Amino acid sequence: MTPASFAFLTGIVRARSGGVIGPDQGYMLETRLAPLLKREGLPSLDALAARLRQPGTDALAQEMTELLTTNESSFFRDGKPFEHLRTLIPRLHAARPPGQKLRIWSAACSTGQEAYSISILIAELQEADPGLRTRPFEILGTDITAAVLERARAGLYSQFEVQRGLPIRTLMKRFTQEEGRWRVKPEIAAPCRFQSFNLLGDPRILGRFDVIFCRNVLIYFDVPTKARVLERIAAQLAPDGALYLGAAETAIGVTRALAPLPGERTVYGPARTEAERLRA
Ligand SMILES: C[S@@+](CC[C@H](N)C(=O)[O-])C[C@H]1O[C@@H](n2cnc3c(N)ncnc32)[C@H](O)[C@@H]1O
Repeated sequence: MTPASFAFLTGIVRARSGGVIGPDQGYMLETRLAPLLKREGLPSLDALAARLRQPGTDALAQEMTELLTTNESSFFRDGKPFEHLRTLIPRLHAARPPGQKLRIWSAACSTGQEAYSISILIAELQEADPGLRTRPFEILGTDITAAVLERARAGLYSQFEVQRGLPIRTLMKRFTQEEGRWRVKPEIAAPCRFQSFNLLGDPRILGRFDVIFCRNVLIYFDVPTKARVLERIAAQLAPDGALYLGAAETAIGVTRALAPLPGERTVYGPARTEAERLRA
């Protein structure tokens, strides 16, 4: 592939998803786009670049972008954020009027494991505390990639996927076996909804949230994009809510709209303005 084709193709991905693909990742384009080239009858990535320079190729450009996203996920990924959430939910429940829905956003939800892990955690909390059973919850999973959203909605996982992060007792209790695969039970799926949303867009259309998980996606963005995305997310977060980032991600030095919660490295709340700090 010529450097011009590489720059053109990765420029499309960056403009559409924010994802930065470095010059050492040419192999990724080769491997992930091979089936697309075959289907389109294109002999090379240079030919794909030439095709995408033609008008009327918007759908192809989007398909290429989605093929180049990394969709790795697992249940209860990294453990710690979910332990934090286990203590946060009862506090948010106590702070909200009865009947008010607690809204949780799994931004960049990939194949849905994060959203379903949150739903399982809430079910566990509700079993332990009957007071929580009357609290309505909504878990919204969003992603840019249509194929992963389809999988998230199906809630059907392979043996390998459920083995990553799910204790066997949780698996037996919250899933049913279906021809060698595992389907999340209806009561766990019920609070979860999945829809397409590009993090480069305006999240005001999704409303306000008490909890936001935005994990393992910012790592693919450059710093100005991270800042813009985080600032828009922060504006949608309740003042006493929490934003969970991935283990390798930070908002420190990226934006001042968020402040780490005391003693936490990857859990943030909206930063208070100087006026708010003085009033407190
Ligand atoms: C590595 S997965 C993270 C999944 C999950 N949050 C976790 O931590 O396990 C990253 C996801 O981000 C999505 N993504 C990438 N760019 C995006 C964008 N601009 N808007 C929304 N989702 C995006 C990808 O499609 C992919 O499913």
